[in-house]
Amino acid sequence: MNKSRADSRPRLSKQGFSPDVCGRINFCYLPPVPPKKKIAIIPGDGIGKEVIPQAVKVLEASGAPLDLTYFDWGADRYLKDATTVPADGFAMLDRDFDAILVGAFGDPRVPSNIHAKEILLGMRFKMDLYANIRPVRLLDATLCPLKGIEPKDVDFVVFRENTEGVYGDSGGVFKQGTADEVAVQEDINTRKGVERIIRYAFEFAAHNKKADGSPRTRVLMCDKSNAMTHAGGLWQRVFKTVRAEYPQIKSEHMYVDALCMQLVRDPRPFDVIVTNNMFGDIITDVAAALQGGLGMAASGNIHPGKTSMFEPVHGSAPPLAGNNIANPIGAILTSAMMLSHLGFAEAAQKIEAAVLEAVRQKKTTQDVAGTMGTKEVGEWIANKVGS
Ligand code: IPM
Ligand code: MG
Repeated sequence: MNKSRADSRPRLSKQGFSPDVCGRINFCYLPPVPPKKKIAIIPGDGIGKEVIPQAVKVLEASGAPLDLTYFDWGADRYLKDATTVPADGFAMLDRDFDAILVGAFGDPRVPSNIHAKEILLGMRFKMDLYANIRPVRLLDATLCPLKGIEPKDVDFVVFRENTEGVYGDSGGVFKQGTADEVAVQEDINTRKGVERIIRYAFEFAAHNKKADGSPRTRVLMCDKSNAMTHAGGLWQRVFKTVRAEYPQIKSEHMYVDALCMQLVRDPRPFDVIVTNNMFGDIITDVAAALQGGLGMAASGNIHPGKTSMFEPVHGSAPPLAGNNIANPIGAILTSAMMLSHLGFAEAAQKIEAAVLEAVRQKKTTQDVAGTMGTKEVGEWIANKVGS
């Protein structure tokens, strides 16, 4: 029996049998098909609207069982009816979806960027997606601006705390517009918040391998505890406590300024880096440059066991938008990260292998040494994944 006929046969009913098309009881049934994973797709603004359709093409080619629902949250919607996030929006995402795939937010028509803040930071904070996980992997030596650095030399992961720090929007402005103006931006660090991200980084190191199959062996905590003593002190104390639970993992520490310098001098020693929200933001832009630029960088905003959100590291890049020149690889690798998080490791690996092949054959956009457009790169990778 061919597959399509087999698939059209009646399936197992609640009672354990089901009538066939002629009304007879059919005891020869197929096991139930696993339900599709429900994915919320939010392309957002600018190049987000160009790269996400390419990521979706690739996801569809991977054959992973997904059910996609699109949302128009972004600048256009905000300008139309002043909605950033519809009432109950985050609760709905949490309740009705298994994962969220996001493009980017930011549009010159909304100078306050209020919609970007409420949607993107809103999702991270209100859905408590505490781990912003940003893998940094060089796929081809030609993409790295550093001399003599090979793909095996750049394969580390940044665990960025995603719900606290200076991003918490705590503070205020006093005597605004006067010569005595005061602006306070508070850096919030809780023991719970610091502990869970540090523990996640150690757990990841203990259970994951590098692309070449070698084990991950080190976790480096990055702070600025020589100057920011209150917050840094908490990070230091928690790091000491948690690392004692992982004697097999080497623990290290660097101040953020020294780390940035070391990343561009020699990225080889890095393995897993854990840090606060703002340092993680800065470090991952530097790290993106090591991979070939922001267009190559993927990320997941994760809370294990909860609906998590996946977004490329790049922004909406208004000057590039609408020209079919944006690099879709960051979004495509992000969708592979999402599949792997949902348990479709094989489909994720297929996508990663196709991206590697595209980079090697220069089937890429101009920013990464190719000559193709956004759509053409997406199609090439999707064809490779589907073949
Ligand atoms: C990022 C971005 C965001 C951040 C902006 C758009 C608020 O730079 O995801 O890295 O700072 O987290
Ligand atoms: Mg950033």
